[in-house]
Amino acid sequence: MNLLNIVILAAGKGTRMYSEKPKVLHALAGKPLLQHVLDCAVALRPQQICVVYGHGGEAVPQAMQQYPAKFVIQEPQLGTGHAVQQAMPLLADDGQTMVLYGDVPLIQHSTLHQMQQAGDGLVLLTVNLDNPAGYGRIVRNHQGDVLAIVEEKDASPEQRGIREVNTGILLAPTGKLREWLAKLQNNNAQGEYYLTDIVAMAVQQGIAVHTVQPAHEWEIHGINSKAQLAALERTRQQVEASRLLAHGVTLADPARIDVRGRLNCGRDVEIDVGCIFEGDVALGNNVHVGAYSIIRNASIADGTHIAPYSLIDSSEVGANCHIGPYARLRPGTRLHADVHIGNFVEVKNSEIAQGSKANHLSYIGDSTVGSCVNIGAGTITCNYDGANKHRTVIGDDVFIGSATQLVAPVTVGNGATIGAGSTITKDAPQGGLTLSRSKQVTVAGWKRPAKQVKGEK
Ligand code: UD1
Ligand code: CA
Repeated sequence: MNLLNIVILAAGKGTRMYSEKPKVLHALAGKPLLQHVLDCAVALRPQQICVVYGHGGEAVPQAMQQYPAKFVIQEPQLGTGHAVQQAMPLLADDGQTMVLYGDVPLIQHSTLHQMQQAGDGLVLLTVNLDNPAGYGRIVRNHQGDVLAIVEEKDASPEQRGIREVNTGILLAPTGKLREWLAKLQNNNAQGEYYLTDIVAMAVQQGIAVHTVQPAHEWEIHGINSKAQLAALERTRQQVEASRLLAHGVTLADPARIDVRGRLNCGRDVEIDVGCIFEGDVALGNNVHVGAYSIIRNASIADGTHIAPYSLIDSSEVGANCHIGPYARLRPGTRLHADVHIGNFVEVKNSEIAQGSKANHLSYIGDSTVGSCVNIGAGTITCNYDGANKHRTVIGDDVFIGSATQLVAPVTVGNGATIGAGSTITKDAPQGGLTLSRSKQVTVAGWKRPAKQVKGEK
């Protein structure tokens, strides 16, 4: 049994964000900072997760209600030690408690796992920085044993020269942590209850203090401003781009791709500049994604080409399709293999079978389209009568002439042909030519109206 508790500190005001929204709800790579931390926490399979929140009323617990976490409010905020104290009544004494920060989103599971392996006692996550300004310093004796953490504002000039700093993330035996927190005092430069003071208490009691360092410095970067958020977003995207490149994906420019979720790629995938991937996206082998396309919660099968400026949302695209440029696939679109969806074509909640084409300027909504159908330019399925949505069913081998309106509910039989410019309100039988347009006439003697000259009547 894993007797691990995780306390996530998220009560800080985030003054420098200049926002009404609590700091930890600002998004990085498409999800709130706190959600990154919670996802990492959940992966450690703890028995209890406790989020300490403060600003923004119930916004934080509400936004995170899908997580198996408890939320405790810290009001007022009297320091990191005081914050952890608020969580203690919810935690059982056996096992260990890990403290994470809600505004340090990129902490990695492997680093936290390493802390769990570091041994009994107190485990601190530390890092050596060229510029340690602002951080608590790790004070060690000549043997290299940790003695204490000294906050910058309380540090002597020599202590300020120390480059090993406290990241804030730590792991402590829960019973001891409770005992130490109860003894904290706020007679320091900031008048706060410092969580970091527990280190000297552990040392005094002869309890081992271990340190672990993260594999990457970005794991411990905290967010206090929009500038830091933007910088960490770029770091996160660079890491993702490197992962894709290492996996064999061709990126036209690794600095111009944004992945806000999980992107899974097969072999020989090529992605041009400016593409955004959101949620869960799977690209098969030999998929090409054209510039400035946005793909969200979708799967694209082998060999499909997506031309620039296409938008694909909650859709399934089959193999060897051609999509775009400027195509829009809305939720519930299911394209079989070899389908062509061209420029300014919108498809919604529709299934289109193999080899069918809608190459220009069309709307296909709530439709079932057979195989080898040609949908002419400007075809519209009129799926909405002002109150309800209705389905359009088109059989196999159908030819729909350009600028046709199919007023749903309506069915076009297999092999039917619809004449261009028709408004089809009744089912069209299979095999035949159906059209609904008045006969073309040329009006004899007709003249264009002339422009009136002013003053004349
Ligand atoms: C803290 C550490 C410092 C470390 C630094 C790393 C202490 C006393 N100092 O400093 O050693 O180098 O983090 O960034 O712990 N928070 C609350 N309630 C509070 C105060 C803070 O929830 O009353 C939360 C904040 O939202 C934030 C985290 O705790 O997520 C750290 O708070 P912050 O004020 O940034 O800590 P520092 O004083 O910078
Ligand atoms: Ca800080």
